[in-house]
Amino acid sequence: MNDNSSHDQSTRAISSGRRANEHGLAVPIWATAVWESDSAEHAYDMAHSVGPDDFYSRHGNPTVSAFTDSIADLEDAESALAFASGMGALASVVFGLCSAGSHIVATKQIYGTTTTFLNGPAARMGIETTWVNGGEPGAMAAAVIPGRTMLVIAETPSNPLLDIVDLDELGAIKGPFTMVDSTFATPFGQQPIRHGVDLVLHSATKGIAGHNDATLGVVAGERELLDDIWRYGILHGATASPFDAMLALRGVRSLDVRHDRQCSTALEIARRLQHHAAVAKVHYPGLADHPHHDLAARQMRRFGSVVSLQLANGDGYASLVEQLQLVRCATSLGGPETLICESWTTTHSGLDEDSRREIGINPGLIRMSLGLESAEDLWDDLDRALSSL
Ligand SMILES: Cc1ncc(COP(=O)(O)O)c(C=O)c1O
Repeated sequence: MNDNSSHDQSTRAISSGRRANEHGLAVPIWATAVWESDSAEHAYDMAHSVGPDDFYSRHGNPTVSAFTDSIADLEDAESALAFASGMGALASVVFGLCSAGSHIVATKQIYGTTTTFLNGPAARMGIETTWVNGGEPGAMAAAVIPGRTMLVIAETPSNPLLDIVDLDELGAIKGPFTMVDSTFATPFGQQPIRHGVDLVLHSATKGIAGHNDATLGVVAGERELLDDIWRYGILHGATASPFDAMLALRGVRSLDVRHDRQCSTALEIARRLQHHAAVAKVHYPGLADHPHHDLAARQMRRFGSVVSLQLANGDGYASLVEQLQLVRCATSLGGPETLICESWTTTHSGLDEDSRREIGINPGLIRMSLGLESAEDLWDDLDRALSSL
């Protein structure tokens, strides 16, 4: 944490992450793979220190550190580490903390590629995962095997049904490390570390960088734990690029206002979609009928910029895409453009059909990331396209 801590989070988003700036207002891009040492002794010291910013870019880079300083500040964490993508961050945490024979507890309602990673490469390396229903009180703690469970991983709000996991309950689990994928919330939506959770992970590709022009992941938490992950991360090599880190730090500066606007639009569109004849169900934690609305209201500052909807006609997605003029078909979220994707055929297509259906993902379930366009223009486009189905 830097000395910014007495300020509001919105102020900290502007003042944090400036140690590499010198007199520039914006962070310079340190486009160098390596630094020259002025003595053999210095080179030795750098090669044997954790996270040096002036040795070799896989070990550390001042532009990347400026970004991670800022995220640590916004998450009320001691430290943060950046990676080449959200999945690079996840893989580095799992392989950095677990060994063959380790056990993980993870919530079923999670990004499909995370499931594929844990059931695929992690399982092949002898790391076993028990899947639990994140919305069921006590389920995460009950699945912990003392002495074997290294990590409890939850995603909240979850992708794509926006289920909410109780952060206090997760933070109260002692023994294993606990981690939240907080991508859908951003640091302005919730701060899991304040609930006692050990690690918070973001795909910064999404709302944090916020313009669909950078691919980046970040994990925040206690320095000692992150140092251990760093020791593995430099071997894994999912190194964050200084160019993407610059874009993400630029995104942080405007994140609060972008997120605020996107969340308001999401709530407005979710309310209207509830009354549309072509829509069977709307999932949004800001709606009073969402099963975890009260929990979301307690632990989140904003309900997020993603709304999911189930088409009444499960086969209607392709026609909807053809009819939409403003809303774009693309598999991401958190950027300025409003995007839709069908989870069945994109984010969760790596899971077999039964596993998809078990977690509520059926054909015609659409994830919509609300962008920065006018809510009225978006509604006109959606209403017209949905009415044509
Ligand atoms: C919730 C969540 N976590 C992690 C990831 C992976 O992030 P990346 O695509 O940056 O690897 C994604 C990507 O969509 C995501 O939605």
